[in-house]
Amino acid sequence: MKLQDIKREWWKEGVVYQIYPRSFQDSNGDGIGDLRGIINRLDYIQSLGVDTIWLNPIYSSPNDDNGYDISDYRNIMSEFGDMADFEELLAGMHERGLKVVMDLVVNHCSDEHEWFQQAKTSRDNPYYDYFHWWPAEKGTPPVRWSYFDPEANAWRYNAATDSYYLHYFAIKQPDLNWENPKLRAEIYDMMHYWFKKGIDGFRMDVITFISKHDGYPEFPVEFHGDKMIDMYAQGPRLHEYLHEMNREVLQHYDCMTVAEGPGTHTDNVLALVDEDRQELNMNYHFDHQQIGVGPRFIVNDDFQNLVKFKQIMSEWDAALADKGWNTVYFGNHDFPRMVTRWASDAPEYRRYASKMLSTYLLTMRGTPYYYMGDEIGMSNIKFDNIEDYKDIMTINWYELTKAEGGDLDKFMESHKLCARDNARTPVHWDDTAHAGFTTGEPWIKVNPNYTDINVAAQENDPDSELNYFRALNALRKANLTVIYGRYDLLLPEHDDIYAYTRTLDDEVVLVLLNFSANAHRLDINALVDNVGPATSMLLDNYAHHAEASEIGYLRAYQAQVIKL
Ligand code: GLC
Ligand code: CA
Repeated sequence: MKLQDIKREWWKEGVVYQIYPRSFQDSNGDGIGDLRGIINRLDYIQSLGVDTIWLNPIYSSPNDDNGYDISDYRNIMSEFGDMADFEELLAGMHERGLKVVMDLVVNHCSDEHEWFQQAKTSRDNPYYDYFHWWPAEKGTPPVRWSYFDPEANAWRYNAATDSYYLHYFAIKQPDLNWENPKLRAEIYDMMHYWFKKGIDGFRMDVITFISKHDGYPEFPVEFHGDKMIDMYAQGPRLHEYLHEMNREVLQHYDCMTVAEGPGTHTDNVLALVDEDRQELNMNYHFDHQQIGVGPRFIVNDDFQNLVKFKQIMSEWDAALADKGWNTVYFGNHDFPRMVTRWASDAPEYRRYASKMLSTYLLTMRGTPYYYMGDEIGMSNIKFDNIEDYKDIMTINWYELTKAEGGDLDKFMESHKLCARDNARTPVHWDDTAHAGFTTGEPWIKVNPNYTDINVAAQENDPDSELNYFRALNALRKANLTVIYGRYDLLLPEHDDIYAYTRTLDDEVVLVLLNFSANAHRLDINALVDNVGPATSMLLDNYAHHAEASEIGYLRAYQAQVIKL
Protein backbone atom coordinates (compact mmCIF):
# COMPACT_ATOMS: atom_id res chain seq x y z
CA MET A 1 0.00 0.00 0.00
CA LYS A 2 1.23 3.50 -0.83
CA LEU A 3 1.31 6.14 1.89
CA GLN A 4 -1.31 8.13 0.02
CA ASP A 5 -3.74 5.16 0.19
CA ILE A 6 -3.33 4.59 3.90
CA LYS A 7 -5.98 5.83 6.29
CA ARG A 8 -3.87 7.49 8.95
CA GLU A 9 -5.21 7.40 12.53
CA TRP A 10 -3.72 8.55 15.83
CA TRP A 11 -4.29 5.16 17.40
CA LYS A 12 -2.32 3.47 14.63
CA GLU A 13 0.63 5.80 15.03
CA GLY A 14 0.81 6.06 18.81
CA VAL A 15 2.56 3.83 21.31
CA VAL A 16 0.34 2.63 24.17
CA TYR A 17 1.93 2.57 27.62
CA GLN A 18 0.05 0.48 30.17
CA ILE A 19 -0.11 1.48 33.81
CA TYR A 20 -1.20 -1.00 36.47
CA PRO A 21 -2.07 1.63 39.09
CA ARG A 22 -1.77 -0.68 42.07
CA SER A 23 1.95 -1.12 41.42
CA PHE A 24 3.02 2.13 39.77
CA GLN A 25 3.55 4.63 42.61
CA ASP A 26 2.10 4.93 46.10
CA SER A 27 1.64 8.49 47.36
CA ASN A 28 0.27 8.03 50.89
CA GLY A 29 2.28 5.20 52.40
CA ASP A 30 -0.44 2.54 52.50
CA GLY A 31 1.63 0.33 50.21
CA ILE A 32 -0.84 0.54 47.32
CA GLY A 33 -0.22 2.54 44.18
CA ASP A 34 -2.78 5.29 43.57
CA LEU A 35 -3.90 8.05 41.22
CA ARG A 36 -1.94 10.74 43.09
CA GLY A 37 1.15 8.58 42.57
CA ILE A 38 0.56 8.61 38.81
CA ILE A 39 -0.03 12.38 38.90
CA ASN A 40 3.33 12.79 40.63
CA ARG A 41 4.99 10.85 37.81
CA LEU A 42 3.33 12.58 34.85
CA ASP A 43 6.52 14.27 33.70
CA TYR A 44 8.31 10.95 33.70
CA ILE A 45 5.54 9.35 31.65
CA GLN A 46 5.65 12.19 29.16
CA SER A 47 9.45 11.96 28.93
CA LEU A 48 9.15 8.42 27.54
CA GLY A 49 7.73 9.69 24.26
CA VAL A 50 4.70 7.39 24.38
CA ASP A 51 1.30 8.61 23.20
CA THR A 52 -1.56 6.81 24.90
CA ILE A 53 -1.95 5.61 28.47
CA TRP A 54 -4.03 2.53 29.21
CA LEU A 55 -5.06 2.42 32.86
CA ASN A 56 -6.06 -0.92 34.35
CA PRO A 57 -9.39 -0.70 36.24
CA ILE A 58 -9.60 2.12 38.76
CA TYR A 59 -13.31 1.76 39.58
CA SER A 60 -14.79 0.86 42.97
CA SER A 61 -14.00 -2.74 43.70
CA PRO A 62 -13.62 -5.19 46.57
CA ASN A 63 -10.46 -6.32 44.73
CA ASP A 64 -11.05 -10.02 44.55
CA ASP A 65 -9.34 -9.81 41.14
CA ASN A 66 -7.51 -6.47 41.57
CA GLY A 67 -10.21 -4.21 40.20
CA TYR A 68 -11.56 -6.57 37.52
CA ASP A 69 -14.52 -7.09 39.87
CA ILE A 70 -16.33 -3.75 39.75
CA SER A 71 -18.91 -2.77 42.35
CA ASP A 72 -19.58 0.73 40.97
CA TYR A 73 -18.72 1.67 37.39
CA ARG A 74 -19.05 5.40 38.02
CA ASN A 75 -16.77 5.79 41.00
CA ILE A 76 -13.11 5.49 41.82
CA MET A 77 -11.71 2.70 44.00
CA SER A 78 -11.20 4.27 47.44
CA GLU A 79 -7.64 2.86 47.66
CA PHE A 80 -6.76 4.74 44.47
CA GLY A 81 -8.29 8.15 45.35
CA ASP A 82 -11.45 9.91 44.28
CA MET A 83 -13.08 11.50 41.23
CA ALA A 84 -11.28 14.80 41.78
CA ASP A 85 -7.95 12.93 41.58
CA PHE A 86 -9.11 11.22 38.41
CA GLU A 87 -10.09 14.51 36.79
CA GLU A 88 -6.75 16.03 37.72
CA LEU A 89 -4.94 13.02 36.29
CA LEU A 90 -6.91 13.16 33.05
CA ALA A 91 -6.27 16.88 32.66
CA GLY A 92 -2.57 16.40 33.44
CA MET A 93 -2.28 13.75 30.76
CA HIS A 94 -4.14 15.80 28.19
CA GLU A 95 -1.95 18.85 28.93
CA ARG A 96 1.03 16.69 28.09
CA GLY A 97 -0.46 15.49 24.83
CA LEU A 98 -1.24 12.01 26.16
CA LYS A 99 -4.47 10.18 25.37
CA VAL A 100 -6.16 8.15 28.10
CA VAL A 101 -7.73 4.75 27.60
CA MET A 102 -9.70 3.10 30.41
CA ASP A 103 -10.44 -0.54 31.04
CA LEU A 104 -14.03 -1.54 30.28
CA VAL A 105 -14.95 -4.65 32.28
CA VAL A 106 -18.48 -5.61 31.26
CA ASN A 107 -18.47 -9.35 30.78
CA HIS A 108 -18.95 -9.47 34.55
CA CYS A 109 -19.17 -7.18 37.56
CA SER A 110 -18.61 -7.75 41.26
CA ASP A 111 -21.09 -9.68 43.38
CA GLU A 112 -20.99 -6.56 45.56
CA HIS A 113 -22.41 -4.43 42.75
CA GLU A 114 -25.91 -3.19 43.56
CA TRP A 115 -27.27 -5.09 40.55
CA PHE A 116 -26.15 -8.43 41.91
CA GLN A 117 -27.03 -7.57 45.50
CA GLN A 118 -30.62 -7.12 44.27
CA ALA A 119 -30.61 -9.93 41.75
CA LYS A 120 -29.61 -12.63 44.18
CA THR A 121 -32.58 -11.94 46.50
CA SER A 122 -35.39 -13.27 44.32
CA ARG A 123 -36.30 -14.44 40.84
CA ASP A 124 -38.83 -11.63 40.74
CA ASN A 125 -36.32 -8.89 41.39
CA PRO A 126 -35.99 -6.58 38.35
CA TYR A 127 -32.22 -7.12 38.38
CA TYR A 128 -32.46 -10.91 38.27
CA ASP A 129 -32.28 -10.75 34.48
CA TYR A 130 -29.09 -8.73 34.57
CA PHE A 131 -27.28 -12.03 35.17
CA HIS A 132 -27.22 -15.57 33.80
CA TRP A 133 -29.04 -18.21 35.87
CA TRP A 134 -29.75 -21.91 35.68
CA PRO A 135 -32.90 -22.82 37.69
CA ALA A 136 -32.27 -25.75 40.01
CA GLU A 137 -35.49 -27.53 38.99
CA LYS A 138 -33.80 -28.20 35.63
CA GLY A 139 -31.12 -30.26 37.38
CA THR A 140 -27.38 -29.77 37.33
CA PRO A 141 -26.32 -27.08 34.86
CA PRO A 142 -24.38 -28.05 31.71
CA VAL A 143 -20.61 -27.94 32.20
CA ARG A 144 -19.06 -24.52 32.01
CA TRP A 145 -15.44 -24.08 32.99
CA SER A 146 -14.29 -21.16 35.18
CA TYR A 147 -10.86 -19.57 35.35
CA PHE A 148 -10.79 -18.57 38.99
CA ASP A 149 -13.32 -20.82 40.71
CA PRO A 150 -11.66 -23.09 43.30
CA GLU A 151 -13.34 -26.05 41.58
CA ALA A 152 -13.08 -24.62 38.06
CA ASN A 153 -16.89 -24.79 37.90
CA ALA A 154 -18.51 -21.68 36.39
CA TRP A 155 -21.91 -22.27 38.05
CA ARG A 156 -22.52 -21.38 41.69
CA TYR A 157 -25.67 -22.23 43.59
CA ASN A 158 -27.62 -19.37 45.21
CA ALA A 159 -30.18 -20.55 47.77
CA ALA A 160 -32.46 -17.48 47.83
CA THR A 161 -33.32 -17.93 44.15
CA ASP A 162 -32.81 -21.70 44.06
CA SER A 163 -30.71 -21.26 40.96
CA TYR A 164 -27.08 -21.21 39.82
CA TYR A 165 -25.41 -18.06 38.51
CA LEU A 166 -22.76 -18.12 35.84
CA HIS A 167 -19.23 -16.88 36.53
CA TYR A 168 -16.51 -17.49 33.95
CA PHE A 169 -14.05 -15.93 36.40
CA ALA A 170 -14.14 -15.78 40.22
CA ILE A 171 -17.14 -16.57 42.40
CA LYS A 172 -17.25 -12.84 43.09
CA GLN A 173 -17.43 -12.02 39.35
CA PRO A 174 -20.94 -12.93 38.11
CA ASP A 175 -21.34 -12.69 34.32
CA LEU A 176 -23.64 -9.95 33.06
CA ASN A 177 -26.55 -10.89 30.84
CA TRP A 178 -26.13 -9.04 27.55
CA GLU A 179 -29.34 -10.59 26.22
CA ASN A 180 -31.16 -8.07 28.38
CA PRO A 181 -31.55 -4.77 26.50
CA LYS A 182 -31.84 -2.90 29.82
CA LEU A 183 -28.42 -4.10 30.86
CA ARG A 184 -26.94 -3.07 27.52
CA ALA A 185 -28.51 0.37 27.80
CA GLU A 186 -26.99 0.81 31.28
CA ILE A 187 -23.57 -0.08 29.96
CA TYR A 188 -23.79 2.29 27.00
CA ASP A 189 -24.92 5.04 29.33
CA MET A 190 -21.94 4.39 31.60
CA MET A 191 -19.60 4.55 28.59
CA HIS A 192 -21.06 7.94 27.62
CA TYR A 193 -20.45 9.11 31.18
CA TRP A 194 -16.70 8.42 30.87
CA PHE A 195 -16.42 9.78 27.34
CA LYS A 196 -18.11 12.97 28.52
CA LYS A 197 -15.42 13.29 31.17
CA GLY A 198 -13.00 13.31 28.26
CA ILE A 199 -11.40 9.87 28.08
CA ASP A 200 -10.10 8.77 24.69
CA GLY A 201 -11.04 5.14 24.50
CA PHE A 202 -11.53 1.75 26.06
CA ARG A 203 -9.59 -1.47 26.35
CA MET A 204 -12.38 -4.03 26.57
CA ASP A 205 -11.81 -6.83 29.02
CA VAL A 206 -12.62 -10.35 27.70
CA ILE A 207 -15.13 -8.67 25.43
CA THR A 208 -15.28 -11.73 23.18
CA PHE A 209 -17.11 -13.60 25.96
CA ILE A 210 -20.18 -11.38 26.33
CA SER A 211 -22.61 -13.41 24.22
CA LYS A 212 -23.63 -16.78 25.66
CA HIS A 213 -25.12 -19.72 23.75
CA ASP A 214 -28.91 -19.98 24.11
CA GLY A 215 -29.95 -22.65 26.58
CA TYR A 216 -26.31 -23.45 27.47
CA PRO A 217 -25.91 -26.52 25.26
CA GLU A 218 -23.23 -29.05 26.18
CA PHE A 219 -20.04 -28.16 24.33
CA PRO A 220 -18.32 -30.86 22.25
CA VAL A 221 -15.60 -32.61 24.29
CA GLU A 222 -12.81 -30.99 22.28
CA PHE A 223 -13.94 -27.70 23.82
CA HIS A 224 -13.79 -28.84 27.44
CA GLY A 225 -11.35 -27.53 30.06
CA ASP A 226 -9.44 -24.44 28.99
CA LYS A 227 -10.41 -25.12 25.35
CA MET A 228 -13.82 -23.71 26.27
CA ILE A 229 -12.31 -20.33 25.52
CA ASP A 230 -12.84 -20.91 21.82
CA MET A 231 -16.54 -21.57 22.42
CA TYR A 232 -16.89 -18.67 24.85
CA ALA A 233 -15.60 -16.37 22.14
CA GLN A 234 -18.13 -17.63 19.59
CA GLY A 235 -21.37 -16.57 21.22
CA PRO A 236 -24.06 -16.07 18.56
CA ARG A 237 -24.69 -12.36 19.23
CA LEU A 238 -21.20 -11.00 19.95
CA HIS A 239 -21.03 -9.00 16.74
CA GLU A 240 -24.60 -7.80 16.99
CA TYR A 241 -23.80 -6.33 20.44
CA LEU A 242 -20.53 -4.74 19.41
CA HIS A 243 -22.08 -3.19 16.34
CA GLU A 244 -24.86 -1.83 18.52
CA MET A 245 -22.31 -0.46 20.99
CA ASN A 246 -20.50 1.23 18.13
CA ARG A 247 -23.72 2.85 16.86
CA GLU A 248 -24.97 3.83 20.32
CA VAL A 249 -21.70 5.07 21.76
CA LEU A 250 -18.36 4.75 19.98
CA GLN A 251 -19.21 6.45 16.70
CA HIS A 252 -19.99 9.66 18.60
CA TYR A 253 -16.41 10.17 19.80
CA ASP A 254 -12.91 10.40 18.37
CA CYS A 255 -11.86 7.38 20.40
CA MET A 256 -9.90 4.18 20.14
CA THR A 257 -11.05 0.72 21.12
CA VAL A 258 -9.16 -2.49 21.61
CA ALA A 259 -10.61 -5.88 22.43
CA GLU A 260 -8.88 -8.19 24.78
CA GLY A 261 -9.64 -11.13 22.55
CA PRO A 262 -9.21 -14.57 24.08
CA GLY A 263 -10.44 -16.99 21.41
CA THR A 264 -9.61 -14.67 18.51
CA HIS A 265 -7.52 -16.19 15.76
CA THR A 266 -6.35 -15.05 12.37
CA ASP A 267 -9.44 -16.58 10.74
CA ASN A 268 -12.02 -14.72 12.86
CA VAL A 269 -10.37 -11.45 13.90
CA LEU A 270 -11.61 -9.43 10.93
CA ALA A 271 -15.16 -9.88 12.14
CA LEU A 272 -14.17 -7.65 15.07
CA VAL A 273 -11.89 -5.08 13.48
CA ASP A 274 -12.72 -4.73 9.80
CA GLU A 275 -13.63 -1.02 9.74
CA ASP A 276 -16.56 -1.64 7.38
CA ARG A 277 -18.30 -3.67 10.08
CA GLN A 278 -18.32 -0.75 12.53
CA GLU A 279 -17.35 -2.66 15.65
CA LEU A 280 -13.89 -2.12 17.20
CA ASN A 281 -10.52 -0.72 16.04
CA MET A 282 -8.11 -3.32 17.33
CA ASN A 283 -7.85 -6.66 19.08
CA TYR A 284 -5.09 -8.38 20.97
CA HIS A 285 -4.71 -12.12 20.73
CA PHE A 286 -3.10 -14.81 22.89
CA ASP A 287 -1.66 -17.09 20.20
CA HIS A 288 2.00 -16.29 20.86
CA GLN A 289 1.51 -16.39 24.63
CA GLN A 290 0.50 -20.03 24.32
CA ILE A 291 3.80 -21.11 22.77
CA GLY A 292 5.29 -23.61 25.21
CA VAL A 293 2.67 -22.93 27.89
CA GLY A 294 0.01 -25.55 28.68
CA PRO A 295 -3.00 -25.65 31.03
CA ARG A 296 -2.45 -23.86 34.35
CA PHE A 297 0.65 -22.25 32.86
CA ILE A 298 2.80 -25.37 32.96
CA VAL A 299 5.79 -24.68 30.75
CA ASN A 300 7.33 -27.06 28.20
CA ASP A 301 10.42 -27.08 25.97
CA ASP A 302 8.81 -24.89 23.33
CA PHE A 303 8.70 -21.92 25.70
CA GLN A 304 11.09 -19.80 23.65
CA ASN A 305 10.59 -21.39 20.24
CA LEU A 306 11.44 -18.45 17.98
CA VAL A 307 10.46 -20.17 14.73
CA LYS A 308 6.92 -20.63 16.04
CA PHE A 309 6.85 -17.09 17.36
CA LYS A 310 7.86 -15.65 13.99
CA GLN A 311 5.29 -17.77 12.22
CA ILE A 312 2.45 -16.68 14.50
CA MET A 313 3.36 -13.01 14.42
CA SER A 314 3.71 -13.08 10.65
CA GLU A 315 0.36 -14.78 10.18
CA TRP A 316 -1.27 -12.12 12.32
CA ASP A 317 0.37 -9.38 10.31
CA ALA A 318 -0.89 -10.94 7.08
CA ALA A 319 -4.43 -11.34 8.44
CA LEU A 320 -4.64 -7.60 9.07
CA ALA A 321 -2.50 -6.28 6.23
CA ASP A 322 -5.35 -4.94 4.11
CA LYS A 323 -8.17 -4.45 6.55
CA GLY A 324 -8.28 -3.78 10.26
CA TRP A 325 -5.13 -3.01 12.23
CA ASN A 326 -2.83 -5.20 14.30
CA THR A 327 -1.48 -4.89 17.84
CA VAL A 328 1.87 -6.08 19.19
CA TYR A 329 2.77 -6.86 22.77
CA PHE A 330 4.97 -9.16 24.80
CA GLY A 331 3.60 -8.66 28.27
CA ASN A 332 0.97 -6.99 30.37
CA HIS A 333 -0.49 -7.47 33.85
CA ASP A 334 -1.60 -11.00 32.87
CA PHE A 335 1.74 -12.26 31.61
CA PRO A 336 5.29 -12.47 32.94
CA ARG A 337 7.92 -9.79 32.42
CA MET A 338 8.92 -9.70 28.77
CA VAL A 339 12.66 -10.04 29.31
CA THR A 340 12.24 -13.25 31.32
CA ARG A 341 9.59 -14.72 29.04
CA TRP A 342 10.96 -13.92 25.59
CA ALA A 343 14.72 -13.45 26.00
CA SER A 344 16.99 -13.63 29.04
CA ASP A 345 17.09 -12.00 32.45
CA ALA A 346 20.60 -13.32 33.20
CA PRO A 347 22.63 -10.35 34.49
CA GLU A 348 25.12 -10.48 31.59
CA TYR A 349 22.39 -10.34 28.91
CA ARG A 350 19.44 -8.62 30.53
CA ARG A 351 20.14 -5.09 29.35
CA TYR A 352 20.73 -6.02 25.70
CA ALA A 353 17.83 -8.46 25.76
CA SER A 354 15.27 -5.96 26.95
CA LYS A 355 16.41 -3.34 24.46
CA MET A 356 16.20 -5.93 21.70
CA LEU A 357 12.62 -6.82 22.67
CA SER A 358 11.64 -3.15 22.81
CA THR A 359 13.07 -2.77 19.33
CA TYR A 360 10.78 -5.50 18.08
CA LEU A 361 7.67 -3.98 19.63
CA LEU A 362 8.33 -0.55 18.20
CA THR A 363 9.37 -1.60 14.69
CA MET A 364 6.64 -4.13 13.92
CA ARG A 365 3.53 -3.17 12.02
CA GLY A 366 0.67 -2.68 14.48
CA THR A 367 0.11 -0.55 17.57
CA PRO A 368 2.62 -1.43 20.31
CA TYR A 369 1.22 -2.08 23.80
CA TYR A 370 4.10 -1.50 26.15
CA TYR A 371 3.91 -2.47 29.82
CA MET A 372 5.17 -0.22 32.63
CA GLY A 373 8.58 -1.15 33.99
CA ASP A 374 9.66 -2.87 30.79
CA GLU A 375 11.36 0.38 29.77
CA ILE A 376 13.90 -0.22 32.56
CA GLY A 377 14.10 -3.96 31.95
CA MET A 378 12.26 -5.24 35.02
CA SER A 379 12.30 -9.04 35.30
CA ASN A 380 10.25 -11.79 36.98
CA ILE A 381 10.44 -11.95 40.75
CA LYS A 382 10.15 -15.79 40.73
CA PHE A 383 8.57 -16.44 44.12
CA ASP A 384 9.72 -19.60 45.93
CA ASN A 385 6.71 -19.74 48.24
CA ILE A 386 3.05 -19.93 47.33
CA GLU A 387 2.36 -17.58 50.28
CA ASP A 388 4.05 -14.74 48.37
CA TYR A 389 1.51 -14.87 45.56
CA LYS A 390 -1.47 -12.49 45.70
CA ASP A 391 -3.15 -13.51 42.44
CA ILE A 392 -6.40 -15.44 42.87
CA MET A 393 -5.63 -17.40 39.71
CA THR A 394 -2.27 -18.73 40.90
CA ILE A 395 -3.60 -19.52 44.35
CA ASN A 396 -6.64 -21.43 43.04
CA TRP A 397 -4.61 -23.34 40.48
CA TYR A 398 -2.13 -24.31 43.17
CA GLU A 399 -4.96 -25.59 45.37
CA LEU A 400 -6.51 -27.50 42.47
CA THR A 401 -3.17 -29.09 41.61
CA LYS A 402 -2.64 -30.00 45.26
CA ALA A 403 -6.13 -31.51 45.59
CA GLU A 404 -5.48 -33.65 42.50
CA GLY A 405 -2.14 -34.82 43.89
CA GLY A 406 -0.38 -33.07 41.00
CA ASP A 407 3.27 -32.08 40.77
CA LEU A 408 3.57 -28.98 42.96
CA ASP A 409 7.31 -28.51 42.37
CA LYS A 410 6.70 -28.34 38.67
CA PHE A 411 3.83 -25.95 39.28
CA MET A 412 6.04 -23.61 41.32
CA GLU A 413 8.87 -23.75 38.75
CA SER A 414 6.51 -22.99 35.88
CA HIS A 415 4.93 -20.13 37.74
CA LYS A 416 8.32 -18.54 38.31
CA LEU A 417 8.25 -18.13 34.55
CA CYS A 418 4.57 -17.51 33.89
CA ALA A 419 2.60 -16.27 36.91
CA ARG A 420 0.80 -12.96 36.52
CA ASP A 421 2.23 -11.57 39.77
CA ASN A 422 5.66 -11.45 38.11
CA ALA A 423 4.43 -8.41 36.21
CA ARG A 424 2.55 -6.92 39.15
CA THR A 425 5.45 -6.21 41.51
CA PRO A 426 6.01 -2.48 42.10
CA VAL A 427 7.89 -0.29 39.65
CA HIS A 428 11.49 0.46 40.69
CA TRP A 429 11.98 4.21 40.96
CA ASP A 430 15.27 4.34 42.82
CA ASP A 431 17.51 2.33 45.15
CA THR A 432 15.96 3.47 48.43
CA ALA A 433 13.74 1.21 50.55
CA HIS A 434 10.97 -0.53 48.56
CA ALA A 435 12.44 0.94 45.38
CA GLY A 436 10.86 4.32 46.11
CA PHE A 437 7.44 2.82 45.41
CA THR A 438 6.09 3.35 48.92
CA THR A 439 7.15 4.55 52.36
CA GLY A 440 4.95 1.81 53.87
CA GLU A 441 4.71 -1.93 53.33
CA PRO A 442 4.12 -2.75 49.66
CA TRP A 443 0.99 -4.85 48.94
CA ILE A 444 3.20 -7.34 47.09
CA LYS A 445 6.93 -7.88 47.44
CA VAL A 446 9.33 -5.66 45.52
CA ASN A 447 11.83 -7.48 43.31
CA PRO A 448 15.15 -7.38 45.24
CA ASN A 449 17.01 -6.57 42.02
CA TYR A 450 15.69 -2.98 42.26
CA THR A 451 19.09 -1.84 43.53
CA ASP A 452 20.48 -2.66 40.04
CA ILE A 453 17.42 -1.93 37.95
CA ASN A 454 15.73 1.40 38.66
CA VAL A 455 14.64 4.60 36.96
CA ALA A 456 16.96 6.93 38.88
CA ALA A 457 20.07 4.98 37.91
CA GLN A 458 19.00 4.84 34.28
CA GLU A 459 17.99 8.48 33.89
CA ASN A 460 21.54 9.74 33.58
CA ASP A 461 23.03 6.76 31.80
CA PRO A 462 23.01 7.37 28.02
CA ASP A 463 23.31 3.61 27.46
CA SER A 464 20.38 2.64 29.69
CA GLU A 465 17.34 0.65 28.62
CA LEU A 466 15.26 3.68 29.56
CA ASN A 467 17.10 6.06 27.24
CA TYR A 468 17.11 3.46 24.49
CA PHE A 469 13.32 3.21 24.80
CA ARG A 470 13.09 6.97 24.43
CA ALA A 471 15.27 6.81 21.32
CA LEU A 472 13.04 4.10 19.87
CA ASN A 473 9.95 6.24 20.40
CA ALA A 474 11.66 9.16 18.67
CA LEU A 475 12.70 6.94 15.77
CA ARG A 476 9.18 5.66 15.31
CA LYS A 477 7.72 9.17 15.38
CA ALA A 478 10.15 10.35 12.73
CA ASN A 479 9.63 7.40 10.43
CA LEU A 480 6.30 6.54 8.83
CA THR A 481 7.84 3.46 7.23
CA VAL A 482 8.24 1.93 10.67
CA ILE A 483 4.57 2.59 11.38
CA TYR A 484 2.85 1.89 8.08
CA GLY A 485 5.40 0.06 5.95
CA ARG A 486 4.70 -3.42 4.60
CA TYR A 487 6.22 -6.20 6.73
CA ASP A 488 8.22 -8.99 5.08
CA LEU A 489 9.73 -11.79 7.13
CA LEU A 490 13.23 -12.99 6.23
CA LEU A 491 14.89 -16.22 7.42
CA PRO A 492 11.66 -17.82 8.73
CA GLU A 493 13.48 -21.02 9.76
CA HIS A 494 16.38 -19.41 11.62
CA ASP A 495 16.31 -20.57 15.25
CA ASP A 496 17.93 -17.47 16.76
CA ILE A 497 17.42 -14.52 14.43
CA TYR A 498 14.24 -12.59 13.71
CA ALA A 499 14.83 -10.48 10.60
CA TYR A 500 12.33 -8.48 8.55
CA THR A 501 11.97 -5.47 6.33
CA ARG A 502 9.46 -2.66 6.49
CA THR A 503 8.77 -1.01 3.16
CA LEU A 504 6.82 2.13 2.34
CA ASP A 505 6.96 3.61 -1.15
CA ASP A 506 10.71 3.82 -1.87
CA GLU A 507 11.93 3.48 1.67
CA VAL A 508 13.10 0.20 3.19
CA VAL A 509 14.03 -0.39 6.82
CA LEU A 510 15.71 -3.66 7.76
CA VAL A 511 15.40 -4.95 11.33
CA LEU A 512 17.79 -7.62 12.60
CA LEU A 513 17.17 -9.08 16.04
CA ASN A 514 19.17 -11.73 17.79
CA PHE A 515 16.88 -13.58 20.21
CA SER A 516 19.80 -15.68 21.51
CA ALA A 517 23.18 -15.48 23.22
CA ASN A 518 24.91 -16.95 20.14
CA ALA A 519 26.70 -14.57 17.80
CA HIS A 520 25.63 -14.67 14.14
CA ARG A 521 27.03 -13.12 10.99
CA LEU A 522 24.48 -12.36 8.28
CA ASP A 523 25.27 -11.25 4.75
CA ILE A 524 22.70 -8.55 4.28
CA ASN A 525 23.32 -8.42 0.51
CA ALA A 526 22.16 -12.01 0.35
CA LEU A 527 19.17 -11.26 2.55
CA VAL A 528 17.73 -8.32 0.65
CA ASP A 529 18.39 -7.14 -2.86
CA ASN A 530 18.03 -3.41 -2.54
CA VAL A 531 20.99 -2.57 -0.31
CA GLY A 532 22.00 0.93 -1.41
CA PRO A 533 25.28 2.77 -0.92
CA ALA A 534 23.74 4.96 1.78
CA THR A 535 22.88 2.07 4.08
CA SER A 536 23.06 3.28 7.64
CA MET A 537 22.32 2.15 11.16
CA LEU A 538 19.29 3.97 12.59
CA LEU A 539 19.53 2.30 15.96
CA ASP A 540 21.76 -0.31 17.56
CA ASN A 541 21.51 -1.60 21.12
CA TYR A 542 25.30 -2.09 21.20
CA ALA A 543 26.00 1.49 20.11
CA HIS A 544 27.70 2.30 23.41
CA HIS A 545 29.74 -0.88 23.53
CA ALA A 546 33.55 -0.59 23.50
CA GLU A 547 33.79 -2.54 20.25
CA ALA A 548 32.21 -0.87 17.24
CA SER A 549 29.19 -2.56 15.70
CA GLU A 550 29.18 -3.90 12.19
CA ILE A 551 26.00 -4.13 10.12
CA GLY A 552 24.91 -7.75 9.93
CA TYR A 553 27.13 -9.03 12.71
CA LEU A 554 24.89 -9.73 15.68
CA ARG A 555 26.28 -10.35 19.12
CA ALA A 556 24.19 -11.74 22.02
CA TYR A 557 20.71 -10.20 21.92
CA GLN A 558 21.85 -7.51 19.53
CA ALA A 559 19.27 -5.40 17.68
CA GLN A 560 20.05 -3.38 14.57
CA VAL A 561 17.62 -1.12 12.73
CA ILE A 562 19.07 -0.34 9.34
CA LYS A 563 17.98 2.07 6.62
CA LEU A 564 18.70 0.54 3.23
C1 GLC B 1 -8.82 -10.12 31.77
C2 GLC B 1 -7.91 -9.27 32.62
C3 GLC B 1 -7.47 -10.08 33.79
C4 GLC B 1 -8.70 -10.44 34.59
C5 GLC B 1 -9.75 -11.13 33.74
C6 GLC B 1 -11.07 -11.16 34.40
O1 GLC B 1 -8.18 -11.21 31.26
O2 GLC B 1 -6.86 -8.77 31.86
O3 GLC B 1 -6.52 -9.42 34.58
O4 GLC B 1 -8.34 -11.26 35.66
O5 GLC B 1 -9.94 -10.48 32.51
O6 GLC B 1 -11.63 -9.87 34.43
CA1 CA C 1 -1.68 4.54 48.25
